[in-house]
Amino acid sequence: MKRTHNNGELRSSDINKTVTLKGWVAKKRDLGGLVFIDLRDKEGITQLAFNPDSPLYKKTLEIKNEYVLEVTGNVIERSSKNKKIPTGEIEVEVKELEILNTAALTPMIIADETDALEETRLKYRYLDLRRPVMQNNFVVRHKTAQAVREYLNNDNFLEFETPILTKSTPEGARDYLVPSRINGGEFYALPQSPQIFKQLLMISGFEKYYQIAKCFRDEDLRADRQPEFTQIDIETSFMDQEEILNISEGMIKHVMKSVKGIELKEDFPRITYAYAMDKYGVDKPDTRFEMLLTNITDIASQSSFGVFTSNIENGGIVKAINVKNAASDFSRKKIDKLTDFVKKYRAKGLPFLKFVNNEFAGSILKFFTPELLVSLKEALNVEENDLILFGSDKTEVVNQSLGQLRNHIAKTLELYSNDDYDFVWVVDWPMFEFREEQQRYYSLHHPFTRVKDEDLELLNEAPEKALAYCYDLVVQGQELGGGSVRIHKTDLQNKVFDILGISKEEQQEKFGFLLDALKYGTPPHAGIAFGLDRLVMLLVHTENIRDVVAFPKTNSAQCVMTSAPSKVADEQLEELSIKTLI
Ligand code: AMO
Repeated sequence: MKRTHNNGELRSSDINKTVTLKGWVAKKRDLGGLVFIDLRDKEGITQLAFNPDSPLYKKTLEIKNEYVLEVTGNVIERSSKNKKIPTGEIEVEVKELEILNTAALTPMIIADETDALEETRLKYRYLDLRRPVMQNNFVVRHKTAQAVREYLNNDNFLEFETPILTKSTPEGARDYLVPSRINGGEFYALPQSPQIFKQLLMISGFEKYYQIAKCFRDEDLRADRQPEFTQIDIETSFMDQEEILNISEGMIKHVMKSVKGIELKEDFPRITYAYAMDKYGVDKPDTRFEMLLTNITDIASQSSFGVFTSNIENGGIVKAINVKNAASDFSRKKIDKLTDFVKKYRAKGLPFLKFVNNEFAGSILKFFTPELLVSLKEALNVEENDLILFGSDKTEVVNQSLGQLRNHIAKTLELYSNDDYDFVWVVDWPMFEFREEQQRYYSLHHPFTRVKDEDLELLNEAPEKALAYCYDLVVQGQELGGGSVRIHKTDLQNKVFDILGISKEEQQEKFGFLLDALKYGTPPHAGIAFGLDRLVMLLVHTENIRDVVAFPKTNSAQCVMTSAPSKVADEQLEELSIKTLI
């Protein structure tokens, strides 16, 4: 029989209708012959009722959880209503029942609340995905992708596909390689992003490109990283940074409106990379709460605290954060825990002061004169019951350890809400960073990023000081997207490769086709890519990227359901001209 309604649809206005429903048995209760079944489908749950004297009663005895049923019956008013679900006013008195399929006992409870281990959830992912909370995640994912397409299509963007079997792309992670059978000993790389192809499409004259693109990166996995993930990838010709930021902002606002019904009216604030590092210690600041890092090197240098003064003499700095009204919450033991926390980020300790009963207290107090304490109080806006935590080391260690500590404390003290969408643009990134260990320059974004016109000269003298037309969109302390205006002239591209220490031969071998293409009338172009998975994580409030990827990998890059990766037959390897070492 044709289904007349879904299981989330019936209301008291439907009472007396005859309906046909289909779905899975979420729960069965037998109250001495009076049987209730919760029938579940994608849209919700409807209660079915079977009277003890119903001829169907006997058949209900064989029904178990997750059986697939088709029922026809009358909508009636429930005697005890359930306010928690939209169909809670009614139930369906079943007149016809067909068991469409049976189900083995499932290895996990199919409900929002499940005590199953993640290992089990991933092994039986198809069952895990039946849970209403997971179903909702993928409805949101679908709506997000549709809203993105709608917005970009309306602005005359063209949707493209670019190759999956390709050549290495320079996003800085390791490549996933695919051996070529026909060209023995040679490999394709899976794209880390469609970066070069989208630039080539600009050279081809398409002007406005987008793609919801699969990307592959063999890097250390974290809660917000998958080895294969999806980008909303955008590229445009003849647009400057301002225009691309506006399009991106419009797109994100459109997604928020269509998927969450939230209208974000204000422009997203913009801060520079330098400001983010100075005040938040990290390049993806969580701006939902204050507790900013304050540079107090000047004051600390006048103290007699050896740790501070010797670090400053060695070119280091001293910064502090003020945890407002928290002195009484942090016992010595709790501060020791915070000290252990910052040690993970290479800090050697965590000096602190408390301000209680209108005066400072703490073991480092003796190193400060009363005048210095007045300056400190002013610089950090210290009030009753404040806790001041200090970081003193090389700039990068102080920024990283205090920046992470700031996030950690805010999480512990619940200083923010996940409904606060604090989108912020971080702009003016340096083009390069110099890594001491390797004694060479690295791109902060990627080597196709354009150096700011006013900083071109710096490429000769101090490349690490040159800023780029480069931008990241950050929200709730996460990097949601990033992009740049690109280099469209061969000489600058060559120069950047030179600074990165990529030899002429390597430039030719790796990017020769791009360098060639740049010669043929390349328009100025700029683009950006957003993590679709991360956008959906934000919208459904999860910190685990696996909750929004239908068939994800574990942190050790395995799919426990299919057992991938797996060994292959020797003949297959031979065909591919491959010998394995293990
Ligand atoms: P980038 O490397 O910054 O830029 O990536 C863009 C966005 O993709 C998401 N992302 C990831 N999501 C999940 N798992 C991962 N392993 C992962 N890696 C990245 C992030 C990130 O902000 N080609 C450039 C973009 C450009 O210049 O246009 C690029 O790929 O949300």
